[in-house]
Amino acid sequence: MSGQCAAKADLMLTDSSKSDASADHAAAIVVRNLRVNYGNREVLHDLSFDIKAAETITILGGSGSGKTTLLRSLIGLEKPVSGEIWIRGHDLCCISAAELAGLRKKFGVSFQGGALFGSMTVGENVALPLREHSRLDDASIEVVTRIKLEEVGLSGYEDFYPAQLSGGMKKRAAVARALTMDPQILFFDEPSAGLDPIIAAGIDDLILKLKRAFQMTIVVVTHELVSAFRIADRMILIDKGSILAIGTPDELKANQHPRVRQFLDRVPDPENSANEDYLERLTARLRL
Ligand SMILES: Nc1ncnc2c1ncn2[C@@H]1O[C@H](COP(=O)(O)OP(=O)(O)OP(=O)(O)O)[C@@H](O)[C@H]1O
Ligand SMILES: [Mg+2]
Repeated sequence: MSGQCAAKADLMLTDSSKSDASADHAAAIVVRNLRVNYGNREVLHDLSFDIKAAETITILGGSGSGKTTLLRSLIGLEKPVSGEIWIRGHDLCCISAAELAGLRKKFGVSFQGGALFGSMTVGENVALPLREHSRLDDASIEVVTRIKLEEVGLSGYEDFYPAQLSGGMKKRAAVARALTMDPQILFFDEPSAGLDPIIAAGIDDLILKLKRAFQMTIVVVTHELVSAFRIADRMILIDKGSILAIGTPDELKANQHPRVRQFLDRVPDPENSANEDYLERLTARLRL
């Protein structure tokens, strides 16, 4: 880190702990005035928020609102046009590629869609980060892999291929892989999307268990409301690339902003309603 960035880091840590005198832990992630573009189109508009250490944050919002883009920005995969992202005192915009790679070893990430390697067994998938980033010998890697699979309830599935697992088991295996390096911060993008409600609740339980057992900072992107309310200490609601609301589950439930209510009460957008009206008129005409 350059001298200027190091000084900025000290400043931000002091500021964030000052601004949150009630919490006994410093901010794990600080985001200030973040703007992210794809080409000429700005998709994240001037976002600012803090995530405290050992806190579980859910990032909520409709499809296309910018949740995945925000998560990708937090782990350094998207470069902001302007603004600052501080992870444990490191400014992502200032650090070198080598420093970013070092910092990433402290993250566990489970992307939207899970993305296990189909040609590798579950055990090989989970062991992959250790093979790439550690100097552990084969026997130690095998032990860590077993422990991680046990943590997610997949003991005994080391030799199965992803295609032989159910959707929920695949998600669990992806979580096990995210846990392999004993991360300080876990990022999940839609961990329970496409799963039936019982399996989805199982993934929520797993996240709650990780939170209690390891005091990790956990960032979960989701549009599943039930799940978001179950696991969150605080929630960030994003609408069309801007923060609409931020607060505890109770604060969000009490928020009377019409757009927040529309999202939390699942009221369809007028443009979608217009499409539904059009379909209704069309099918009515066909029925005549
Ligand atoms: N690689 C990309 N190139 C160009 N535009 C993109 C790219 N990825 C996302 N976008 C656009 O950025 C906006 C935000 O997309 P993003 O994937 O962050 O939304 P999301 O909230 O995660 O949606 P979902 O709930 O459907 O996963 C959308 O308008 C999308 O079309
Ligand atoms: Mg997404």
